[in-house]
Amino acid sequence: MTATALLEVESLVRCPTCRGPLSAAEPRRCERCGVDYPLVDGVRRMLDENAPGIAEKRREMEGWVSMAREQEWYEPDDEVDAVLPYVCRDLGWDDPTWRATEYSFASLLELLRPGMRVLEIGAAKCWGSQHVIARGCTYVGADILADPNIGLGRGLFYEELAGQPFLRVQADGEGLPFASASFDVTYCVATLHHALDLGAMVGEMSRVTRPGGHVLALNEGSRALRQGANAPTQEEALGFGINEHVHTIYAYVWALARHGVLVRRIFQADGYDGIAGTRAGGTLLRLPLVGRAAATLYTQSCCGYQGVSLVGRRLGRR
Ligand SMILES: C[S@@+](CC[C@H](N)C(=O)[O-])C[C@H]1O[C@@H](n2cnc3c(N)ncnc32)[C@H](O)[C@@H]1O
Ligand SMILES: [Zn+2]
Repeated sequence: MTATALLEVESLVRCPTCRGPLSAAEPRRCERCGVDYPLVDGVRRMLDENAPGIAEKRREMEGWVSMAREQEWYEPDDEVDAVLPYVCRDLGWDDPTWRATEYSFASLLELLRPGMRVLEIGAAKCWGSQHVIARGCTYVGADILADPNIGLGRGLFYEELAGQPFLRVQADGEGLPFASASFDVTYCVATLHHALDLGAMVGEMSRVTRPGGHVLALNEGSRALRQGANAPTQEEALGFGINEHVHTIYAYVWALARHGVLVRRIFQADGYDGIAGTRAGGTLLRLPLVGRAAATLYTQSCCGYQGVSLVGRRLGRR
């Protein structure tokens, strides 16, 4: 990001509590609320200490670090981080979560055009930056997690890879510190299902996206209509205090629709190879024209827990 583009996106930052303007001078300050929002180790600290659920979100931040240490992925590995999310394609990993993210991420890349402003919620290390910046876009990463190894602090590695700084903001996706209609594209990967209030996060993603812009939720946990609210795969993370939820595709689509985002594409997060081998899925996929739509609706409505990706467009006048 050029110095001008960085200044431009810095000017879109608002107080997370009252959405008022911040001082231009450091530390950036909301005079109305009397709160400073400093830049610490390259990350703008913009958490609202009085926001709903802040205690649960702080517990989640600690939970990610504890879980990463226990599962031994806390220490950064440059070779891995340099290719994320393509660890299956480029390093031969056999990991269903990353494979689904690889598949779903293509739907973001295909709609990017040079000059677009792109915001990622739940950006973690900001690995998305390397792909977004390579397409000539301005990238902004937001997450509650500022940790130097597995959170926004690690974004420094990607700034060095890109040869330019970009804006990293410690912020709650349920109360974003940005002016309305600031971004052409707002997206998240595996993050919406961590929201304590799904509608609040979707509403904020919609608010900060310009009318006509895109809102994407990629590789989100989903459940069939008759499945319970606790996915077995989320148990371990829940034990670390991470806020996990699993929604039906109808809950995601409705949350987006009621905040002015029309879903234009919905697909299996990991693609169609898996369900092609099932009896019902295989049959539906062979239907002319509507094969994928029918297989997605059937699988998402009737078959256990999985991942879904949604691409929507923000309604309203440009
Ligand atoms: C499963 S991780 C996904 C990280 C990254 N998108 C990826 O796919 O590698 C979920 C991320 O969402 C973040 N997160 C959870 N709740 C959040 C919230 N309310 N606002 C912003 N980020 C949040 C977590 O800190 C974590 O980094
Ligand atoms: Zn304020």
